[in-house]
Amino acid sequence: MASVDVPVALLGYGTVGAAVNRLFHEQAEDIERATGHRLRVVKALVRSLDKEREFPAAPGVLTTDINEILDDPSISVVAEVMGGVEGTGETVLDLLRRGKNVVTANKQLVARRGDELFAAASSSGVQLRFEASVCAAIPVIKVLRESLVVTNVHSVLGIVNGTTNFMLTAMEAGMSYDEALADAQARGYAEADPTDDVTGADAAAKMAILATVAFASRYALEDVAKVGIDTIDPLDVAAASQLDMVIRLIGQARLMDGHVDVRVSPALVDKHHPLAAVEGAFNAVMLQGDAIREITLEGPGAGGVETASAVIADITSVIGTMGTGFLQNDPVRRTLPRLPVGEHRSPYYFHLSVEDRPGVLSRVADELAQRQVSVSRLLQHQSLDGATLHVVTHEAREGDLRDALTAIAALPEVKRAPQPFPVISSRGVTELGWA
Ligand SMILES: NC(=O)c1ccc[n+]([C@@H]2O[C@H](COP(=O)([O-])OP(=O)(O)OC[C@H]3O[C@@H](n4cnc5c(N)ncnc54)[C@H](OP(=O)(O)O)[C@@H]3O)[C@@H](O)[C@H]2O)c1
Repeated sequence: MASVDVPVALLGYGTVGAAVNRLFHEQAEDIERATGHRLRVVKALVRSLDKEREFPAAPGVLTTDINEILDDPSISVVAEVMGGVEGTGETVLDLLRRGKNVVTANKQLVARRGDELFAAASSSGVQLRFEASVCAAIPVIKVLRESLVVTNVHSVLGIVNGTTNFMLTAMEAGMSYDEALADAQARGYAEADPTDDVTGADAAAKMAILATVAFASRYALEDVAKVGIDTIDPLDVAAASQLDMVIRLIGQARLMDGHVDVRVSPALVDKHHPLAAVEGAFNAVMLQGDAIREITLEGPGAGGVETASAVIADITSVIGTMGTGFLQNDPVRRTLPRLPVGEHRSPYYFHLSVEDRPGVLSRVADELAQRQVSVSRLLQHQSLDGATLHVVTHEAREGDLRDALTAIAALPEVKRAPQPFPVISSRGVTELGWA
């Protein structure tokens, strides 16, 4: 096939955008061999034309005027790599309505405004792809949408935020939360304002997208319950190690009896579980389904060139499937009800700081037992001003556990309201030595 030029426009020419242009140049022959097309960045929208760029664009490519992209009929594929939700959402809608295919790396945009964007893409008959918005270089969206199309995936467990995974690995090695955050910032893993990472907001956006694709039912950011790593106490990290576990920020999306639950929270993960081996800034996603049992994908979840490789993979998929109707554009085809609040079931861990008085333990056990929460493991540490009880429960209903913990927090001997974390293990309590 004769090779042709495909003009591509970028919204943004920062870390990811410049890396896309660099890879187009450096890998031009590979891309042409694989796709039969020669791709070229013809326009890139930026805020400032004067900024020094690591990989400068050809003269005339950078622009501050979106109309140069919107009004150019030769541009049929645009990669949105600038970030932002409101203004960016309007621009992407404009592009889609004008019949341009859009590829985006922007998880907040897809998780917050996915429904209107996909509707606009469908009515214009163009594609909206978003591989790079979740786990950067790991091709999890493509695997879910294309490779596992008949698998009935019922569970997605993921470490989808590299910054917090880096921090938790550092805390396991003895650093405090503040030291781990400073180290992550010094290495460029954490932003100056790390709120989105440490509160779980970034992971929640990615889990909303993964759940939407996995279950073909729409989940927005506000559907995802989240607890961040900023709630972890150093005592929890030490206790996890004693229990042969590690703490990870885990996104869970589960389909149970026709109901879906999506959440993000720190969890104690059994050291024998594949997700416990994911260290540093890496990401991993474990998919479970009827036909596949279990598939785990692991790799770098951020970085300019890593993200750019996923953006380019989407661009080449768009070009290769334009007009073929190969994939329905919107992954959503049904509406599944949410699991009612409190119905989620899991084994849980929590710690209690208590005054060391006779009878405390039995009062705690009593409050749990009254709500059908049974204890599988208990560790007790004495200190000068009292004791810390580390409790692991058998599988319990979240609502029952929360009610029990509210009652326990009101006991006069208990110093602080406990924060429960789910326990993730594919081994039963007997194999864990907890029975
Ligand atoms: N970096 C990663 O590792 C990574 C990983 C996964 C996903 N992402 C996503 O990829 C996107 C881009 O990230 P990045 O790290 O490349 O960001 P970045 O380095 O800050 O680059 C942003 C680019 O967009 C341009 N821009 C921003 N707002 C604009 C506006 N309103 N109008 C015109 N141009 C605008 C900037 O122009 P100027 O250069 O003139 O300032 C800059 O070129 C984000 O959605 C991010 O969440 C990034």
